[in-house]
Amino acid sequence: MKTIKFKNHDEMPILGLGTFRSQPNEVYDAVLTAIKEGYRHIDCAAIYGNESEVGDAIQEAIKQGIVKRENLWVTSKLWNNSHGQENVLPAIKKTLEDLKLDYLDLYLVHWPVALKHDIEMPSKGDDFIPLSELPISETWKGMESVLNEGLTRHIGVSNFNSKDLENLWDKSNHKPEVNQVEIHPLLPQNELLEFSNQKGIHLTAYAPIGSGGNAEKSISILENQTILKLAEEKNCSPAQIALAWNMARNISVIPKSTNKKRIAQNFNATAVELSNEEIKEIDDINLSHRFIDGKFWEFEGGPYTAEGIWGTK
Ligand code: A2P
Repeated sequence: MKTIKFKNHDEMPILGLGTFRSQPNEVYDAVLTAIKEGYRHIDCAAIYGNESEVGDAIQEAIKQGIVKRENLWVTSKLWNNSHGQENVLPAIKKTLEDLKLDYLDLYLVHWPVALKHDIEMPSKGDDFIPLSELPISETWKGMESVLNEGLTRHIGVSNFNSKDLENLWDKSNHKPEVNQVEIHPLLPQNELLEFSNQKGIHLTAYAPIGSGGNAEKSISILENQTILKLAEEKNCSPAQIALAWNMARNISVIPKSTNKKRIAQNFNATAVELSNEEIKEIDDINLSHRFIDGKFWEFEGGPYTAEGIWGTK
């Protein structure tokens, strides 16, 4: 499989298994199935509430001799209530304990949003800490120190806009290597991609097949006419077209599935090659639709807005 190459010569497989919204009772089978299928990259996060089950499956795969730890790429993310230099070490230790690993391959700051330490999910504006009080650069010092301690091999961010990254740039010793954001044919993120290429930051696409569509199903990647037409022409599935399009742009993808057939189907998207014309047809869809809209961080009197987070205000 194609890989993303890092400065220290580590390589991240361009396609991994996503585990957001994978129920704890399903995720064990999903991860074990995926590793048997050939996946070598698993994307996790403390807030998904399933890292312990993911860890059990990884252990089982190692025990069965299917894979060695050093041949797996495991990513996890620092939750919003563990911002602040001193909170990063305990957070990564808990994640490593749950995943039953000695080190992560990649640890990301999950959102440029800080919550008070005892609040996992906010219910009011007062549950947040503004970044003016607790800047990302402070949290980043904690990220750099867990990197230096060898608890993760790489560090990065998620849901960051280019301004957030510019702010962090001069205040960081070790620059963020990855930014994980929503990217798919209905949200191509061309400007962020250009910025990231200039800075040497790799982009990973979450919700690469549109997170199962929105509530009304009025906007769906899997029912988009261009995607459907290409899938028919190339004798593959719409999901595979969406994944292949991101991978052709050198963007890694982490489709979530707990279904055996779809886990296999998504893996086989690495064999789908798109011509420049086919890529252009998808680029021409020209929409800008977020499935993960960030409005869940907006509370009356609170310091965060979706527009501020996406850098569109
Ligand atoms: P399931 O777990 O039942 O397969 P994303 O990674 O973009 O957030 O999308 C995840 C959603 O898409 C989940 O609802 C998942 O459901 C579904 N899904 C995953 N793979 C496919 C596929 N190949 N075709 C259709 N739906 C898929």
